[in-house]
Amino acid sequence: MVAARITVNGKETPIAPAPAHTTVLDFLRERGLTGTKEGCAEGECGACSVLVARPGVHKPTDWVAVNACLVPVAALDGQEVITSEGLATVGEPGTPAALHPVQEEMAVRGGSQCGYCTPGFICSMASEYYRPGRCAHPGPDAAAPDAGSAADADGEHGPNGFDLHALSGNLCRCTGYRPIRDAAFAVGSPAEGDPLARRREQSPPEPAATAYAVDDSTFLRPGSLSEALRLLRDRPDAVVVAGSTDWGVEVNIRSRRAGCVVAVDRLPELRELRETSGHIEIGAAQTLTEIERRLDGRVPLLAELFPQFASRLIRNSATLGGNLGTGSPIGDSPPVLLALEASLVLAGADGEREVPLSDYFTGYRQSVRRPGELIRAVRVPLPLSPVTAFHKIAKRRFDDISSVAVAFALDIEDGIVRKARIGLGGVAATPIRALATEAALEGAPWTAGTVEAAARVLCAQGTPMDDHRASAGYRSAMLGQSLLKLYARTTEAVSS
Ligand code: FES
Ligand code: FES
Repeated sequence: MVAARITVNGKETPIAPAPAHTTVLDFLRERGLTGTKEGCAEGECGACSVLVARPGVHKPTDWVAVNACLVPVAALDGQEVITSEGLATVGEPGTPAALHPVQEEMAVRGGSQCGYCTPGFICSMASEYYRPGRCAHPGPDAAAPDAGSAADADGEHGPNGFDLHALSGNLCRCTGYRPIRDAAFAVGSPAEGDPLARRREQSPPEPAATAYAVDDSTFLRPGSLSEALRLLRDRPDAVVVAGSTDWGVEVNIRSRRAGCVVAVDRLPELRELRETSGHIEIGAAQTLTEIERRLDGRVPLLAELFPQFASRLIRNSATLGGNLGTGSPIGDSPPVLLALEASLVLAGADGEREVPLSDYFTGYRQSVRRPGELIRAVRVPLPLSPVTAFHKIAKRRFDDISSVAVAFALDIEDGIVRKARIGLGGVAATPIRALATEAALEGAPWTAGTVEAAARVLCAQGTPMDDHRASAGYRSAMLGQSLLKLYARTTEAVSS
């Protein structure tokens, strides 16, 4: 097996002797690439953002921005990484660095003050700069004379098609965000011959079969699902990772270490997305960004979920399999998937089985998934209910943990609720269905009276608790408000 290596800014470097738990951030900084900064070390500030060549959605390769503080460097064996230093110098080795267009705009528009956050912003911005099709979808203010400050109606898309969600995982403590937004909305299209734009036309590196061991810790990347299942049978102590957005926090903040880490994020069997007449099957190792872009609104409830799920930086690595595998009662996807009546395909040494998500969780961070089993895919049954909403109640609009989350999927025909599915998060030890509220709605007319009565039922669902995010009373009240809000929205739609 070839020794583990990573290509950084065009230069191949051996990963050894870095310990297996070493993050990409620490690896880069120890080799002098100190533009990549550590702020929080838990995926919340974006100071560590770097670009990785990944399988593209609309071109062979996408330049995807990820949190270098969360990803083990061994997970990028054989892969290509660009840091903020590489953006300035790519294509011009040995000559004084010309600023990259994104860096240029940040400089001239005053987007950097102390500069600590700047390399991270630059990498996140560069990822959006290179997003295929960005310029093909300019906001409605494209003709505005001051394109640098124009934004479309939601304030989140520039006249150059720049989606500000690309920066939702980057924090700046001193400049303020307006000059940064101005820079983002001023970048143009990559020039002819831009090396990173050209690189998108070629396939990204294949995932390497990695068996990286230093001292008594090992990082393994199996090449197939069957090999992964064999490994998990032989190493029941192994920690399974996909995007490492959860495990990376454990390593950095809680100093956890594993004797064996098994990466499943590039297993082909976990990366399919297909639709049959009966369901949409989403591979458990597709990243949330990939699902969002590939589905392109096909499942409106998922489309509503994604912008509220952490940040773009996290969504570029995080997977549905990981969000369900950790079993968190406040994960963002379970309420939505419960409302969609999704099921999980669990793969084990003895074959596959399909488990409804409503039967999956058995207790706090516990599930029916057996040792050695992997979540291979999530199935969303068809047809989809037409009236849907996802309400995430949190202190911040983006990149926050919910106090409570509610997802609705309703069939309303001729003014009667034919079917109601409601998923809740943050009100019990596990995500739950609001069965009593569903029963209160089904068969009843979709009227203010029905909804107010059902909202009272919804307020009493689950066993919410007091903690630093919210009181139990607030959580209960928000459940009822969510249903009232959905009703208001549907009646506005009818009367407008
Ligand atoms: Fe804050 Fe990585 S250091 S997100
Ligand atoms: Fe100082 Fe952003 S420029 S933190």
